[in-house]
Amino acid sequence: MRSANRHFLRAFLRNKSQVGALTPSGDKLADAMVEWIDWNSAGSVVEFGPGTGVFTEKILTKLQPGSKFFAVEQDPHLADITRMRCPGATVYTDCVSNISALCEKEGIEKVDAVISGLPWAVFTPELQKQLIGEMKSVLKPGGKFVTFAYLQGMLLPAAQRFRHLLNNEFEEVHQSRVIWSNVPPAFVYRCIQKDSPV
Ligand SMILES: C[S@@+](CC[C@H](N)C(=O)[O-])C[C@H]1O[C@@H](n2cnc3c(N)ncnc32)[C@H](O)[C@@H]1O
Repeated sequence: MRSANRHFLRAFLRNKSQVGALTPSGDKLADAMVEWIDWNSAGSVVEFGPGTGVFTEKILTKLQPGSKFFAVEQDPHLADITRMRCPGATVYTDCVSNISALCEKEGIEKVDAVISGLPWAVFTPELQKQLIGEMKSVLKPGGKFVTFAYLQGMLLPAAQRFRHLLNNEFEEVHQSRVIWSNVPPAFVYRCIQKDSPV
């Protein structure tokens, strides 16, 4: 995994405002990202921003036979690393803003759960709103959206703005315990889609 970490750092240096972290997430954070999903009833799951595939690997161990899954990663090098790490996964090299078209291509009308590794706290308010809106348009009523935030980042206005956006856009927003062993420490947002998403 050392070489994957090096590629991740290079991706960060190429594109800080899209990668948003110096190292991939740790195993304990990956566990916290997947533990809230009801995997027995999740027929379609999408991952945003897999990076080196830390969450993808966990998702594949949980996914039930017959369930649909794909990931969307903008950085072509990182997308390749996820493909190598998780040969069973479909990974699109694309922007998550194309999520509707990608779901259509995969024959998915509505998604049960979206697991996101996107660095929301480095996005502009407009981009945060746009991507959450596009994600919600494919998420089922009552569907689940899971994402994480760095504890230290909560001092940033963009991170606080993102938290407000989640509160406004979802029926329920729960915050997990802090994963102190992650570098840097992080927590997970677990959100439930409204019955009428718009
Ligand atoms: C903070 S890294 C997280 C990577 C991985 N999930 C992890 O936790 O280690 C954010 C990832 O999101 C990807 N990303 C950022 N904006 C994106 C977009 N609009 N569409 C697809 N991927 C995006 C970046 O290239 C990067 O791999």
